[in-house]
Amino acid sequence: MQPADRIASFGAYFFAQLGKRIAALRAEGRDIIRIDIGAPDLPPPDFVVEAMIASARRPDTHSYTAYGGTPEFKQAVAAYYRTRFGVDLDPATEVLGLIGSKEGLFHLAQAVVNPGDVVLVPDPGYPTYRAGTRLAGGELYFMPLVRENGFLPDLNAIPAEVLRRAKILWLDYPNNPTAAVAPLSFFEEAVAFARQHDILLAHDAPYVDVTYDGYEAPSLMQVPGAKEVAVEFNSLSKAFNMAGWRLGMMVGHPDVVRYVHVYKSQVDTSQFLPVLQGGITALTDERVWPWVAERNAIYQERRDIVVAALQQAGIDVDVPKASLYVWFPLPEGETDSKAFCERALLEAGVSMTPGVVFGPHGEGYVRVSLGTATDKMRVAMERLVAWLTK
Ligand SMILES: Cc1ncc(COP(=O)(O)O)c(C=O)c1O
Repeated sequence: MQPADRIASFGAYFFAQLGKRIAALRAEGRDIIRIDIGAPDLPPPDFVVEAMIASARRPDTHSYTAYGGTPEFKQAVAAYYRTRFGVDLDPATEVLGLIGSKEGLFHLAQAVVNPGDVVLVPDPGYPTYRAGTRLAGGELYFMPLVRENGFLPDLNAIPAEVLRRAKILWLDYPNNPTAAVAPLSFFEEAVAFARQHDILLAHDAPYVDVTYDGYEAPSLMQVPGAKEVAVEFNSLSKAFNMAGWRLGMMVGHPDVVRYVHVYKSQVDTSQFLPVLQGGITALTDERVWPWVAERNAIYQERRDIVVAALQQAGIDVDVPKASLYVWFPLPEGETDSKAFCERALLEAGVSMTPGVVFGPHGEGYVRVSLGTATDKMRVAMERLVAWLTK
């Protein structure tokens, strides 16, 4: 039995392959520390788990729930946007609940892209923007993210002929994989650009609440009029350590929210109500903000361990203000991020992600994730420094 043409060219997801390889190395007795995948290692707040359990104990929470999330979940998303960003959203028309934001990123292309439409994606960037576009029959145009430009795309460098056919412009700040942040002024520029060229701006913001040194990341929705040209994806995965719960949201342009809802309601039948209840608590309970600050302090300590070690090894690394990552250039003399990470895996027992996995402009860089226990992180970095300086 052959797969359909539309999926035949897809290989296994990078982290699925890497997971298998590491399992095989460990089976041989090798001690490997993983600082590659962007998944939080810590649990969500207790009171969120309790809210989910209390809801699951009720006899009336086990049936199908409303498509695209319950009205209460959508109201909680709107309340979070009001408290956190000062943004007003209509929960009925400008908010959609998602089974993790990844499905929304993928569905967006299915809902708005016709074959031959161009989708502008960051390079390096999260792979789902590309995968969704390819499956919808769209054409990709890569916008290089380079260090000299703060890893922001140069919108004015996109050729007019490409812009004429462009349907979506993807942004993602705080950024995965580069860990760069975007000032509100860049979002203003992007909204004006999208309006001028009649392109849907899609902002993916799962790291907006993973920030350091007192930095507060903005929402694209803070730009006046953003809802007329843009949607934003957000997630409880990284903000509240709820990655396995699969809870995310899409907000903004009401027509686009409706198109994705129509598409999505053909595909799934929403989530388990107690999971949504836990999400409502995370988004609206006042206790969550001190919890987020404490959790970010843990990541910040890990960030400092990683940055200090890389500097000790002579690497010129930027200190990230946000996201779950440190993105560093290869040491002098190295040019191949896959080969470098492979040697680090085998010789130092440290698994990191080669930058090229995120796109051609990721070559020359490596991504370290901060989602590993602090003690292990310290050992991983000691091993790496010893290996790099030997
Ligand atoms: C940039 C980016 N967008 C979206 C996601 C998906 O998150 P979720 O768990 O909400 O599907 C991730 C997860 O790693 C991510 O890094």
